[in-house]
Amino acid sequence: MLIFLWKFIVFHFLIISCCLLTYVNPEDNPGIPAIAKYFNTKGRYEEVNPYLREDILAVNRSILQPPSAQCQEIHLTVIIRHGTRYPTTKNIKGMQQLYNIVLHNASGEESWLREIQTQWRMWYTEDMDGRLVQKGVNDLKHLAIRLSKLFPSLISEEKLRGGFFKFITSSKHRCVNSTLSFKAGLTELWAITDMEFDYAVNDALMRFFDQCTRFVQEVDNNPSALSEVDKFKQGPEMRRVQEKIADRLRVPYSLITHDMTQAAFYLCAYEFAIKAANSPWCQLFDEEGAKVMEYASDLREFWKRGYGYDINSKSSCALFHDVFSRLDKAASEINSGQQVTEAVTVQVGHADTLLPLLTLLGFFKDNVTLTSTNYATQAKRSFRTSHMLPYAANLLLVLYDCGGGDLRLQPLLNEKPVTFPGLTDQRASIPLYQDVRGHYSDLLKGCDFETECQLFKHPAEV
Ligand SMILES: *[C@@H]1O[C@H](CO)[C@@H](O)[C@H](O)[C@H]1NC(C)=O
Ligand SMILES: *[C@@H]1O[C@H](CO)[C@@H](O)[C@H](O)[C@H]1NC(C)=O
Ligand SMILES: *[C@@H]1O[C@H](CO)[C@@H](O)[C@H](O)[C@H]1NC(C)=O
Ligand SMILES: *[C@@H]1O[C@H](CO)[C@@H](O)[C@H](O)[C@H]1NC(C)=O
Repeated sequence: MLIFLWKFIVFHFLIISCCLLTYVNPEDNPGIPAIAKYFNTKGRYEEVNPYLREDILAVNRSILQPPSAQCQEIHLTVIIRHGTRYPTTKNIKGMQQLYNIVLHNASGEESWLREIQTQWRMWYTEDMDGRLVQKGVNDLKHLAIRLSKLFPSLISEEKLRGGFFKFITSSKHRCVNSTLSFKAGLTELWAITDMEFDYAVNDALMRFFDQCTRFVQEVDNNPSALSEVDKFKQGPEMRRVQEKIADRLRVPYSLITHDMTQAAFYLCAYEFAIKAANSPWCQLFDEEGAKVMEYASDLREFWKRGYGYDINSKSSCALFHDVFSRLDKAASEINSGQQVTEAVTVQVGHADTLLPLLTLLGFFKDNVTLTSTNYATQAKRSFRTSHMLPYAANLLLVLYDCGGGDLRLQPLLNEKPVTFPGLTDQRASIPLYQDVRGHYSDLLKGCDFETECQLFKHPAEV
């Protein structure tokens, strides 16, 4: 009888506890907003590689599987987006405006709302304008250290001291600062104090998008180029997100415009990226809302930097040729029995630098165009900037010498091996460098920046 009673109590305790506690996903961490994986280009690198949350310097060398043991890494090109940064002045103005609405017009007793109204302070100031934050400095330092563990024969003190590194950066302060941070990661690691390593500012390579006239006129400065984005912003999915925010704040729907919705999403994203805070602003979104916000931003990137217009990717022709000419040079040095003179090339730019190049190379191409009407059917799209382009996103190209003229090229994105899209029929997991060149032969023969970027290049349009 006692045992029966005991079982009865335990049974009821289990039932009650099961129903009082809300479901907790083992992946969940209370310090991380549930929607952190939908932050697009405002996302943390750690959300793309979650093992880094435990140990920011963790690397797994076994992901690199050269075709045979005698293969040696002889050249590494690293194209990196700058680290975590402050919002731009325009975004900060929007945040201030939303904060005023929540302070003066919102009502309710929810703890997150009280927290915003009584404790949270608008600490962003317009002069922060997109600068690198301390977390961004660390992003690049840590990346440098991880790469030195992943490629110890290339990213080595000896190679750095010997002048086998080249650093190239966009002129933007956040990129220059990121370049300095990457270098500091290495010099601090090896306690180098007796030498300086310079870098070159090169906007033609790292900010090519500003210099491509056809892109600037037909896409960047052309409001109608983003008509699908505008339609989506006015569509039913986005309206629902705005209404839910207005409902949660108990303010009239008219107050929560698309810009205010965007500001709310940014506040959640920036508080997390910069301060690692799961801020009360995140309570304005549920997961479905975050997915809609993510899609709106992906749609914009798709039309402005991705597959939407051919000129978006073609604007990166100069960088494309630059990358292959460095690889060619390393290959020909090896083939003529010399030492590779530029073992490591580190190039620091923007999401707007990486995305056109990734697009030109064919990465993340879905067989359907993203439009204002296919949010639901494109739920499994591969074109996801949250995965592709967090802060400090990077494309790595590793050239291997496997002996006897057998050179191979391994691409990695955000430290994970990937394959060149469409380059199937690989006898080994890593393709021959010649096969990669063959795969992109049309681009290698053409893709001339001057020709592509001039206006009215097609006779039919003149
Ligand atoms: C390292 O990567 C390999 C291959 O992807 C995987 O099998 C292994 O579990 C990883 N090890 C760790 C510690 O993550
Ligand atoms: C929001 O609050 C401000 C300041 O109290 C007030 O002037 C304004 O009328 C309010 N707007 C709405 C729509 O309630
Ligand atoms: C880089 O950014 C950090 C953090 O904002 C700042 O402290 C530092 O002064 C910057 N360095 C340079 C050289 O701009
Ligand atoms: C897109 O690709 C998938 C998988 O390859 C295929 O099943 C689907 O039919 C394709 N859709 C279109 C519209 O081509």
